[in-house]
Amino acid sequence: MEVLDAVSEISSFQYDAEFMDIGSDRYLATGELLTEQDIATMRSKDAVYFGAIGDPRVKPGIMEQGVLLKMRAVFDQYINLRPVTSWFPLVPLKREVDFDIHFLRENTEDFYMGAGGYFGGDHGSDARISISRGMYDLEMNLNGVPSNGDEFAFEIGLLSRKGVERFADYAFRYAVDRGDSKVTLVDKANVCTHVYGMQREIFQEKAAEYGLDLEFMFVDAMAMAMIVRPETFGTVAVPNLFGDILTDLGAQLQGGLGMGGSGNINPNGVSMFEPIHGSAPDIAGQGKANPIAAILAAQMLLENQGYAREGRLIHDAVRRSLDDGMTTPDLGGRLTTSEAGRHIADLVRSSN
Ligand code: IPM
Ligand code: MN
Repeated sequence: MEVLDAVSEISSFQYDAEFMDIGSDRYLATGELLTEQDIATMRSKDAVYFGAIGDPRVKPGIMEQGVLLKMRAVFDQYINLRPVTSWFPLVPLKREVDFDIHFLRENTEDFYMGAGGYFGGDHGSDARISISRGMYDLEMNLNGVPSNGDEFAFEIGLLSRKGVERFADYAFRYAVDRGDSKVTLVDKANVCTHVYGMQREIFQEKAAEYGLDLEFMFVDAMAMAMIVRPETFGTVAVPNLFGDILTDLGAQLQGGLGMGGSGNINPNGVSMFEPIHGSAPDIAGQGKANPIAAILAAQMLLENQGYAREGRLIHDAVRRSLDDGMTTPDLGGRLTTSEAGRHIADLVRSSN
């Protein structure tokens, strides 16, 4: 917030903020996750700037599903933008390399829909799945008594044509805006032939429409290629689950989870910006956490709201703080979280 304040002091960017107490403390006190009131409040804003979430006192999955994934679904934030930039020399590779990969992770479908269940054993032979999304309401019914009496758990990865089309449109438009001549699509179409086969077809149609090249990469090969030749990628479209994994790899490639900002974008609605990391409970309250990922999320918020120049001020200030070694210990510096953040805010102020 201090960095945003610094930007507003020296530019035409002005803002009002309403603070919302959404997190594990409130959940433990009241049982509330993302409430209808929270949703209404967020809906009335231009954008949401979200802190890291998670707490070991809460069972894994509750905050994730009840707050984060719910927010992405309710606001239909179907693009998860995660830049992976070479903040040299933080790059843990053996050679000097310059890359700037922009991952566009599909953020509403695939294996992230909670579309799963059990059948067989004590669960009976029927499994009903209901999926309610901005774009559709589905009721699916799986039945069949397993012949050997065994018990099954399943999780369905679902892609809709509309969902893939809007994802592809966004990716190709994004590549055009960035001046990239190709889009890379990551999948596992050699195994999950149905979902990723349809996704390939749609991306091919869109590639022709936009007149750009389309490159297919299997996710395993992509993991390797990100280490061996990250400089060969620009705009990368990746389905939800694989995107979750590859963008953590990407975060390490750019210097660690503390360097990863992220935007959950609905181009026609309320978008949400957050660091890609969690709340790092193991170092809570020690002033050790690197604030840069959250600060880069603020840069993305500005850019998304039409303040490209102001976003650049933040980016350049972060770059300078790294060059000066004015960082938290994870990056080799000696500053606390607040000092490192304040230093970046000061650099923003002095950039005028
Ligand atoms: C992320 C996180 C979330 C995800 C979790 C917390 C649900 O890992 O933003 O990448 O898997 O999307
Ligand atoms: Mn993740």
